[in-house]
Amino acid sequence: MIRPATPADSDAVVALGDETGMFKPSEIVALREVLDEFFDYNHLDNHHAFVLEENGAILGFVYYGPTPMTDRTWHLWWIVVRKDQQGKGVGGRLLKFVEGDLRELRNARLLLIETGSQPHYEMTRQFYRKHGYEQNAVVTDYYADGDSMVVFRKAL
Ligand SMILES: CC(C)(COP(=O)(O)OP(=O)(O)OC[C@H]1O[C@@H](n2cnc3c(N)ncnc32)[C@H](O)[C@@H]1OP(=O)(O)O)[C@@H](O)C(=O)NCCC(=O)NCCS
Repeated sequence: MIRPATPADSDAVVALGDETGMFKPSEIVALREVLDEFFDYNHLDNHHAFVLEENGAILGFVYYGPTPMTDRTWHLWWIVVRKDQQGKGVGGRLLKFVEGDLRELRNARLLLIETGSQPHYEMTRQFYRKHGYEQNAVVTDYYADGDSMVVFRKAL
């Protein structure tokens, strides 16, 4: 089931993100901050955090919110699936859930997803393409020299 994240999920979500091996230490620190700030106040600012749970275990996490100073553009800031559950449809279920929520409940117009350009993110980029996202921009050397930001978009 997909359900709203609660503060009790934070440790599991951070551990799950870390165990993927995809994120830099600074990004894992940022994930903890994102969760803390979400439960403190960002949930009041139309941000949303959901987990996919099965048999009491958290298998995936998504976090999204409206992009400031835009007309109904939203960002999917985090999507992460437990390493041993990747490639089994969990990410797809979470992404469809987010899109449905944005279309049906939030009158969203556009969803953006930012990811890295490096080779180990190719499967991730492939995942977005498979779900109908168009690669729309590359900001060269955004994260670091040689590590660009790739922006995917989907009109909702
Ligand atoms: C990217 C991610 C969210 C996709 O979720 P998922 O549950 O693994 O993906 P699904 O099973 O729904 O979809 C599978 C498709 O996604 C792609 N994919 C991306 N990562 C994959 C992985 N680790 N294993 C298998 N397929 C993966 C493939 O194109 C695959 O298509 P195929 O089955 O035709 O080969 C997940 O793999 C993940 O958490 N990766 C690490 C963290 C990450 O990159 N997060 C996004 C940061 S921007």
